[in-house]
Amino acid sequence: MIFTIYEIFNSNAALALNMRLEEAKLRAAEKALKMVKDGMVLGLGSGSTVAKFIKLLGEKIGYEFTEIYGVPSSYDTEILAREVGIKIVSLNDYFPDLAVDGADEVDRDFNLIKGGGGCHTREKIVDYSSGEFVVIVDYTKLVTRLGLRKPIPIEVLPFALRLVIRTLSRLGRAEIRRCKGGKLGPVVTDNGNFIVDLNYGRPIEDIEALDRELKSIPGVIETGLFYGSKVSKVVVGYPDRAEILFK
Ligand code: 5RP
Repeated sequence: MIFTIYEIFNSNAALALNMRLEEAKLRAAEKALKMVKDGMVLGLGSGSTVAKFIKLLGEKIGYEFTEIYGVPSSYDTEILAREVGIKIVSLNDYFPDLAVDGADEVDRDFNLIKGGGGCHTREKIVDYSSGEFVVIVDYTKLVTRLGLRKPIPIEVLPFALRLVIRTLSRLGRAEIRRCKGGKLGPVVTDNGNFIVDLNYGRPIEDIEALDRELKSIPGVIETGLFYGSKVSKVVVGYPDRAEILFK
C-alpha cells in the first residue's frame, strides 16, 4: 500500500493529538485522586478518563489506602474496579461519599452531556446520589453552549423505539446508535435498552426544560443531560497540568 505525504502528515497529526488527549485525561485523573480518602465509598463513572482514575486508585490500594469501596455505573467499570482491588458495593446499601465521572461536554454552569459510552442512566443515578459529584475531563470537553457538538444520548425502551424516534424527530435528527464492531445491530445498554442519539444542532437554552420534555415521551428511560446544580467541581486536564473549576 502506498501512502501520500498528505496522508502520512494527517495520520501523524491525529496520533499526536490522541497522545495529548491521553496525557490530559491522566492529569485530570491524578488531580481527582487527591480528593479520595481511605475508607470512602466512591461512585465510579464510566469512560476512558474514569478508567485512568480507577487504575491509579488501584495502585494505591494496600499502600496509601487500606480499603476503598465502589459503586460502579456500568459493567465495564465494575470489571475494571474489581480487577484493581476496589470492593464493589450496592447503591441499595451505600450512597457514595464522592462520585467521579467523565463527560462529553461541559458548559460554564457545569451542565453536562453524558452518555458517549451509553452508560448515562446508571451514571446519573450514581452521580446524583453521591455526597459530592466531581467531573473529570480533558480540555476538549469544555464548551460555551451545550448541544452544538455532541448529540444528546437517550436511553429508550426497545418496545417504544418507533414512537420515541418519531417524537424526537420534531426536535432534531434522531438516530439509533449501532455497534461499531464486535457485534451487529443496535447498541444494547447494561439495562437491556437501546440508545437513540438526538442531534439537536442548536444551543440548549434551558437544560431542565429540555430534559423534562424528553422524559415526557413514553418509553424514554433517561437522557444524557446532567444539571450543573448537581456538580460540585470540574477537574480539567491539559497535557501538562490539571485545573479545578469551582462554581
Ligand atoms: C459514558 C460517559 C462518559 O463519561 C463520557 O462519554 C466521557 O468519556 P471519556 O472519558 O472516554 O471521554 O458518559 O456514558
